[in-house]
This record gives sequence, C-alpha cells and structure tokens, in this order.
Amino acid sequence: MTVLEHGISTPAAACEFARRIPKAELHIHIEGSLEPELIFALAQRNGVALAYPTVESLRAAYAFTDLQSFLDIYYAGASVLLHEADFFDMAWAYFQRAHADNVIHAELFFDPQTHTARGVDMGTVVRGLRRACEQAQAQLGISSQLIMCFLRHLSEEDAFATLEAALPYREHLVGVGLDSSEVGHPPEKFTRVFARCRELGLRIVAHAGEEGPPDYIWQALDVLKAERIDHGVRCLEDPTLVARLAAERVPLTVCPLSNLKLCVVNDLADHPMKRLLDAGLCATVNSDDPAYFGGYMNANFVQTVQALGLTESEVIQLARNSFEASFVSPSDRSGLMNKLERSIQ
Ligand code: ADE
Ligand code: ZN
Repeated sequence: MTVLEHGISTPAAACEFARRIPKAELHIHIEGSLEPELIFALAQRNGVALAYPTVESLRAAYAFTDLQSFLDIYYAGASVLLHEADFFDMAWAYFQRAHADNVIHAELFFDPQTHTARGVDMGTVVRGLRRACEQAQAQLGISSQLIMCFLRHLSEEDAFATLEAALPYREHLVGVGLDSSEVGHPPEKFTRVFARCRELGLRIVAHAGEEGPPDYIWQALDVLKAERIDHGVRCLEDPTLVARLAAERVPLTVCPLSNLKLCVVNDLADHPMKRLLDAGLCATVNSDDPAYFGGYMNANFVQTVQALGLTESEVIQLARNSFEASFVSPSDRSGLMNKLERSIQ
C-alpha cells in the first residue's frame, strides 16, 4: 500500500493505487462500449450505411449537451449490430479493456429493444453477449452477469413484450433495469412490468436522479422496489432521501465522466462523489458508456480522484462498495473482497 507514514496519500499515489486495485463495474451499457472504429468495422462487415463518412467525423459529433443529445447518437451507433458475432465482438472488446483496468467482476446492461425493433432476435443478442461473458471468465478471470434494460421512452406494453421474448433466456439474466430518456418517463410508468420481473426472481435496478428529480428515486425504491439506483446523484437535493439511502445502504452506481459529458455537472471539481461518500452512501464508480464519454473504469477513477482530491482510503471504500453492491452470491462476494484486501496489504 502506498499510504504515507501519517496516513496521508499524495494525489499521484492515490491515482496509481486506484488503477491497480481490483474492482467491479456495475453500470456499463454494453452498447455504450462500441468504439467508433468498431462501429465502422461492423458497418462495413454488415453493409450498414452510417450518417458519418469517417471515424473522425463520428467522434467529432460526440459533443453532448444533455442525455437526449447523447441517446440519439448512441442508438444510431447500435444500428450496426445485426449478428451474434457482432454482439460477441462488442462485449469481448469491452472485457479486454475492463481487464486492463483491473475490473474483476462486471454487470453488463443491454438494451434489447434497440435491436429487436430492427428485426434482430433476442436470442442473437443474448447468445453473443453470453459467449463473450464465458470467454471473459475463461481467458481473463472476469466474472460477469447480464442485466436487461427496458427503454423508458417506450411503452410499458413494449416492455412486457420484451420480457416475454426474454423468458427463454431467463437463466442468463441476473436482473432488469430501466434506462433511456428519464425526464417525463417516471419509474411508476413501469409499475406492472417490474412487479412481474420481481415474481420471476429478477433483481431490480433503475436509472433515477441522473437528470430526473429526487421523486424519481423515491419511485424507483418504493414502486419498482429497486435494489440499486443507477446514477442517483440528484438525491443530494433531498436530505430525507439521503438518510434513507444511507440507512438502507442502497448502492448508487455513479458515473463521473458521463455526468461531465452530459452536463449533469459543469466541472468534475463540482462532482458530488465526495459528498455522497461523506454522507455515508454506498457510492460506486462506473463508466456508463465509455466509448462516448472519454474513458473506461480507470479513467473514471483517476479523473475523479484528481478533481476531488480523494484519498486512498476513499478509493478503497469505492472498490469495497462495488463488491458490496454486486449481485453475486455471498461466497463469490467474499472471494472478490478477499482479492481486494490482498491487493492492499
Ligand atoms: N442509456 C445509455 N446510457 C444512458 C444513461 N446515461 N442514462 C440513461 N440511459 C442510458
Ligand atoms: Zn446508464
């Protein structure tokens, strides 16, 4: 461990420390890991026309003003995914980057409606992703699980049809989530479909309090029975909510670079991560859509540590939180925690 004699660590040491310790990633949209180069390669392989002539021109379009301005480009990028091999290649590229950042467990979101609406079969999506998960375990030692997300700008009826299509693959899903355009699409819009998911034994997460108000976090907890809140940063506007999240240790999967790129914060120095930790919340660091937001796990850790002056103890807390918040068995959690504890001896 690089903590100095009096327990004070230098910023550079804290960054190096954050890079090397084992961690879990719990908020990664796998379609958001599609790098422009892979988008172009898959477009060519599948004969899909893109609105941008070059990789550079596509990358240049990644100047977002809010969540919706990002989602428009993100869904267009996913249009190159047609075959099982495409989903495999995308997820395998992510796992290799995650491995380089010492991610040892990952819970991957995927958006099937983005694909089924284009005529791609649910099985094609799940089989491609599963195969990458299996190879990540075998070749990289990374454990992983899949969380199917419902697009909240679509209807609850559409979500029910998606759940139905996913039932043959139930064994491959640890849980379900709720993503896409938040404002105007409150969690309560999906009350019935999440109730059905709970009956099926699926774990529940939901994006809430990214752009939407604290009330959406209350709804995610009380109506959907979410066990983790994705983003959740706007909870700080409601002290009663913060007290509840702290008392119940409801994890928040926070995504600092995403918040910066989508203008949820104007500067990383204003990011609420330290305030969340100081409030005793189980906050975690995640990359959200790393190909679009300028970095994978370690970039998120390092830039947050630098901007907020986080200490090594806070970095350890964030890594411990990531394992505490993961949907693994108690024995797998102990195994993951032990790897972290050994790395900081
Ligand atoms: N889908 C992909 N990234 C997302 C985000 N940050 N918020 C909501 N939906 C998303
Ligand atoms: Zn997200």
